[in-house]
Amino acid sequence: MTSNLSPIDIAKFAAAKRAVHYVEDGMKVGLGTGSTAAWMVKCLGERVQNEGLKIKGVATSARTAALAAQVGVPIVALDEAKWLDLTIDGADEYDANLNLIKGGGGALLIEKVVATASDQMIVIADAAKQVDTLGAFPLPVEVIPFGWKTTKSLVEETLINLDVMGRDAALRMNDDQPFMTDEGNHILDLSLKRIGNPRQLSLVLNQIPGVVENGLFIDICDMVVIGHGDGAVEIRDINTGNVEHDRIDLPDSDNIFADIAD
Ligand code: 5RP
Repeated sequence: MTSNLSPIDIAKFAAAKRAVHYVEDGMKVGLGTGSTAAWMVKCLGERVQNEGLKIKGVATSARTAALAAQVGVPIVALDEAKWLDLTIDGADEYDANLNLIKGGGGALLIEKVVATASDQMIVIADAAKQVDTLGAFPLPVEVIPFGWKTTKSLVEETLINLDVMGRDAALRMNDDQPFMTDEGNHILDLSLKRIGNPRQLSLVLNQIPGVVENGLFIDICDMVVIGHGDGAVEIRDINTGNVEHDRIDLPDSDNIFADIAD
């Protein structure tokens, strides 16, 4: 048992390690962003090094591309790969239908483009990310910098008529500067508390000029691999309804993945 990993890190590692079992030789794989996805990239790097696994990765952020290069996972552009076999990514929340909130790490736009261009999306997460109703996690919405305050007002006004419990929108900051996405946009974090109709909300938000994309992933995710703090994992497939249980052996080394910065 790893001694210096917190239960939450063990849960993320276990989910990531189990999910990379689905990656096969010759696949083109979308690589998500965030701390859980970082474990997955490292696990893939191990398979590349130890098994000679031959894959092409498409990174969803500059951070992920840098990590992939560090651990030896070859990266190509999405337009070179054209279509992907599989995307593996983290999430901020998932519900029983595997609808998601994503974008806590600010990469929702590219994450959605990449996941949508994949035959299958697998989400890796710890059990705390599961919710009955989406919305406790503030919904990230990517907006262009031009006129962002006007866009924010329009978003807040639009929310009045929708099935949500709050409508405060906050510009995401990075120290004292507005956060910039890899695409040069800003993020509004919407405190909605409860999203009654995620599909409707997603469609309506994307109609607002100035909004580039929102962090609701509706009918995109096929499977969730849920990690627990003792290395147990649960795999749920939304298409087949199958639920599987497994356990990941945790390495003894204290410094496993200590070099992952995300
Ligand atoms: C980045 C994301 C991440 O997948 C999400 O924020 C989860 O991150 P973590 O695995 O660090 O909890 O959507 O845009």
